Amino acid sequence: WATLGQTHEGFLQCLLLHSDDNVAPISNAIYTQNNSSFASVLDFPYGNLRFSTPTTPKPLVIVKPTHVSHIQATVNCSRKHGLQVRVRSGGHDHEGLSYVAQDSFVVIDLIDLRSINVDVGSKTAWIQAGATIGELYYRIAEISTTLAFPAGVCPTVGVGGHFSGGGYGMLMRKFGIAADHIIDAHLVDVDGRILDRKSMGEDLFWAIRGGGGASFGVVVAWKVELVSVPPVVTVFTINKVLEENATKLVHRWQYAAPKSPEDLFLRIFFTDVNSTQEGKRTIQASFVSMFLGRTDQLVKLMQENFPELRLVKEDCHEMNWIESIIYFAEIPNSSPLDALLDRNLYPETFFKAKSDYVKEPIPETALEGLWQRFYEEKPGTVELIFSPYEGKMDEIPESETPFPHRAGNLYKIYYEVLWEEKDNLAPQKHLDWMRRLYSYMAPYVSKSPREAYVNYRDLDLGTNNKGNYTSYRQASKWGVRYFKDNFNRLVRVKTMVDPHNFFRNEQSIPPLVRE
Ligand code: FDA
Repeated sequence: WATLGQTHEGFLQCLLLHSDDNVAPISNAIYTQNNSSFASVLDFPYGNLRFSTPTTPKPLVIVKPTHVSHIQATVNCSRKHGLQVRVRSGGHDHEGLSYVAQDSFVVIDLIDLRSINVDVGSKTAWIQAGATIGELYYRIAEISTTLAFPAGVCPTVGVGGHFSGGGYGMLMRKFGIAADHIIDAHLVDVDGRILDRKSMGEDLFWAIRGGGGASFGVVVAWKVELVSVPPVVTVFTINKVLEENATKLVHRWQYAAPKSPEDLFLRIFFTDVNSTQEGKRTIQASFVSMFLGRTDQLVKLMQENFPELRLVKEDCHEMNWIESIIYFAEIPNSSPLDALLDRNLYPETFFKAKSDYVKEPIPETALEGLWQRFYEEKPGTVELIFSPYEGKMDEIPESETPFPHRAGNLYKIYYEVLWEEKDNLAPQKHLDWMRRLYSYMAPYVSKSPREAYVNYRDLDLGTNNKGNYTSYRQASKWGVRYFKDNFNRLVRVKTMVDPHNFFRNEQSIPPLVRE
């Protein structure tokens, strides 16, 4: 404890020494455990309450930079005093890696660095890493109704982590993912330098666009190119339960949705609900769609591609792009657009999630087996999402960015089990349920490697050793599943820019070490 206390004091002194009070005093950005605001700063805005319990390890200090020099000082001083750093933007990491570590650590919380500058003329935007995607969408819509950005659906997700790991949403089949649209970035590296695309070089610039945040430095801001969308788009949601032939429709969807024109994105959400037959549970498949065009075109297209869903004009709603963001985020449409700026938009939950990629349609009998898993001993609330691929995703080579899940995928599956606080006394049963579901799905999804999406981080796939050395072989267990062959290049870049592995977490990219 004496050593820890000295480290702590030394670290704080170092921060104050590195601060240039004429630019921005760092003292107002520092929260030690003695600070009365420490708990509220740490607790906000948590993504997963599983990592917000009294026994969860807490940082020694939180630094909430208001100026980039505060990030530089924190990196320099953490290195000097042997502390780990965790970087938090939106705080949505599925395994809490942006605010929890096992060794003594400092959190850099970027929530106050969130300015956004949209330039309509060049169709670009600079976005500071602490902004959420909701804020980005809002700022774009303030200026234009025909510019948009292809990122996630949940407005509270932070651009810092989201863009670092890929970032997909309803525009994916037309434009690809967020990382495909990054054209410059500002990053504080392990030596505390501020780099841009030119000074960091193309290898490092490649690595931060999909390599999974936190391994290479602290992203301060992204420059992105925006995309053009029509002034009117069309959305619909059609719910079907098992008694309405949902299984057959889902089976058929696997052929129709990925092959549709890229203006159409038709995904499926699954939950278990009460059946109309008393006392019985059933599965509801919600077909949720975004079409970059008008109702008449959409109805015609669906009649040709997926007539079994029986879409009619009355199911469709025309709106502009930002209204579609509100619709998909399930914000009541009477709410003002300001809801997109609200970081407390959704209740916090305890959850565990996993992901899979599907290359061949799953047989109907296997889908029925999947539904059966929903009815096993009630595991909490279960949600599955099937998101179609192909379209633009097929056109982008696997090595273009570290995000490798491109041609050859029909769709991605997201599995999530959520539970309430009272059930958190025995979280193991939920984790076990999720692992059983995942093993059940093994024969039907991608193999060698069984691919996974790094932004749906899953520590079941493997972790680095405590301390700062993990072999390439060990890290390949999850690295190849997240990044396929791109993992090798990520390791090379890491070895070049952070050979002593300062920026690390349970699933960071390890540098190669000469044994
Ligand atoms: P957080 O701040 O927790 O960071 C995540 C990781 O990135 C951590 O390892 C962190 O250290 C690192 N990091 C964060 N900021 C950094 C920075 N500035 N520099 C370097 N490293 C940094 N995904 C998707 O593609 N589409 C979707 O629609 C959704 N929807 C969604 C909804 C909800 C409710 C959740 C909880 C998650 C999603 N996601 C998602 C997944 C999401 O993309 C993923 O969790 C992102 O990593 C979240 O980024 P945040 O900045 O919010 O997280």
